[in-house]
Amino acid sequence: MQKSSELDFSKCTLPTGERSSLPPECYCSPHIAKKEIGRIFRSSWIGIGRSDLIKNSGHYVCLDFAEQSLILVRDQEKILRAYANTCRHRGARLLNGEGSLKGIRCPFHSWYYGLSGKLIAAPQMEEAKAFDKVNYGLIEYKTEERFGFIFVSFNKKVSDIDEYLLDFKKTHLGWPIENLVSMRRVERVVDCNWKMFLEVFNEYYHLPFVHPNSVDSIYQPPSEPDEVAGQFATQFGETTGTGGLLENEQDNALPDMPNLSDQAKKGVRYTWIFPNMTFAANRDALWCYEAYPLGYDRCKVVQTACFHPTSINRNDFKSKLEAYLHRLDAALEEDIPALVNQQLGMQNPDAIQGTFQPTLESNLASFAHWYAENF
Ligand code: FES
Ligand SMILES: [Fe+2]
Repeated sequence: MQKSSELDFSKCTLPTGERSSLPPECYCSPHIAKKEIGRIFRSSWIGIGRSDLIKNSGHYVCLDFAEQSLILVRDQEKILRAYANTCRHRGARLLNGEGSLKGIRCPFHSWYYGLSGKLIAAPQMEEAKAFDKVNYGLIEYKTEERFGFIFVSFNKKVSDIDEYLLDFKKTHLGWPIENLVSMRRVERVVDCNWKMFLEVFNEYYHLPFVHPNSVDSIYQPPSEPDEVAGQFATQFGETTGTGGLLENEQDNALPDMPNLSDQAKKGVRYTWIFPNMTFAANRDALWCYEAYPLGYDRCKVVQTACFHPTSINRNDFKSKLEAYLHRLDAALEEDIPALVNQQLGMQNPDAIQGTFQPTLESNLASFAHWYAENF
């Protein structure tokens, strides 16, 4: 990929400890935000949530991000497919929202596509001599499922997903991530750049100042960041109690998930799969966020809270779930004003790059390096 000539990323690839944050333009320039769509969102693998978003054959969800719309659907064989939400006749948008169907019918002139993307029927097109249905299947994107997460790429030449994730499996063996079930998925719009949202989720530095009475005391100083190969960053940290509950609601703790590693029993792993999906794997719950740009100063974030089936099957799960969701909501209500304020400050014309705290912001430093190399 070609590097931007308009931005100087040289300080973002310095060794850890000397590395600078991304140039303010990356958060404040409509021009850079536009380029990001092509260089990041249409080039890389994009994490689009958990596999149980689409459970059965024929179930579909339309996802709109990065200036396009895609249809995510399971075909007859339950294989996940992603199609451009545009008809091959004259481009009409095919579907909205979500639902269940046996095939996809265009609302304009009724061309009809099978779940595997083939054009099956096109009324009255026999008269078009050169027309062959075989050449008019839906535009399909690469889709993969790993560890219960869905990944899609608009780039035909993107690397193999297992190469992309390389050490991910090894680093996350301690948690049964693939088996977890989504119990809540919520979307919201936040008035900050999409990268800022993912950054605050991944750093410990703000905890005593932004979350002094909600979750700060739960988090112990994190371990040294893991050195990993692959397009992600990850850091483990011990917790007192569970990071999944507020300090004063710890008596709602669910039991540990089965088969946790010794490390996993002691705390939480924060992982950021570049560019746009991140999660916290705790001993009792996992919550993940996807972030998508809506211009340079707004983003859509999607939160999914996941639990192990052994917890979900408990009689008292419903009331405990409320406490876990309450913690997520409470922390977000504290993070959002901080993010809006950061966005405002970053837009100061004299803002310049800063420096990362090496241990407390290590995932951010890894992302800045990745971004510098991929933009
Ligand atoms: S645009 Fe879809 S059938 Fe005409
Ligand atoms: Fe926070």
